Amino acid sequence: MENGTNDLIRLSVPNKPEYVSVIRLTVSGIANRIGFDIEEIEDIKVAISEACTNAITHGFCQQENNFNVDFLSGKEKLTIKVYDNGKGCLSQNIKTPDLTELKEGGLGIFIIKSIMDDVEILSNNGNGTIIKMTKYVGDDI
Ligand SMILES: Nc1ncnc2c1ncn2[C@@H]1O[C@H](COP(=O)(O)OP(=O)(O)OP(=O)(O)O)[C@@H](O)[C@H]1O
Ligand SMILES: [Mg+2]
Repeated sequence: MENGTNDLIRLSVPNKPEYVSVIRLTVSGIANRIGFDIEEIEDIKVAISEACTNAITHGFCQQENNFNVDFLSGKEKLTIKVYDNGKGCLSQNIKTPDLTELKEGGLGIFIIKSIMDDVEILSNNGNGTIIKMTKYVGDDI
């Protein structure tokens, strides 16, 4: 196996907004090692920020807790899993926004799906939420 392929980095992060910048820095280091260019790295940072912000704002009802972020380095691909054990949600809460009538909110998951190549969301009321997203190097043209 190629060096650095299928390496897993797992973080446990307090559900406080100030840690989102730490995750952004972490992912840029990991993505840079895999070979993503600066533009792709900026996009990945946006996607991971949205996922972490969701875990922090929707995942837990005020109580202090941690959520997890897994980074799986592949050969020219990065898979990120952001998961919390918060209140979860029903899939019908996750709608495609009406872009002709812009309102505040409801854009995070739409943005993640437009940036990342594969996105899977697993969520159930009461059972937390997992968002798994993969991006491939040089797949943006
Ligand atoms: N980790 C999570 N736990 C529980 N519910 C979630 C989680 N992530 C998303 N959701 C649900 O999915 C909805 C859509 O999320 P999305 O990020 O697209 O929009 P938003 O967070 O409401 O607004 P925005 O991200 O634009 O500020 C949320 O309003 C929430 O109901
Ligand atoms: Mg959001």
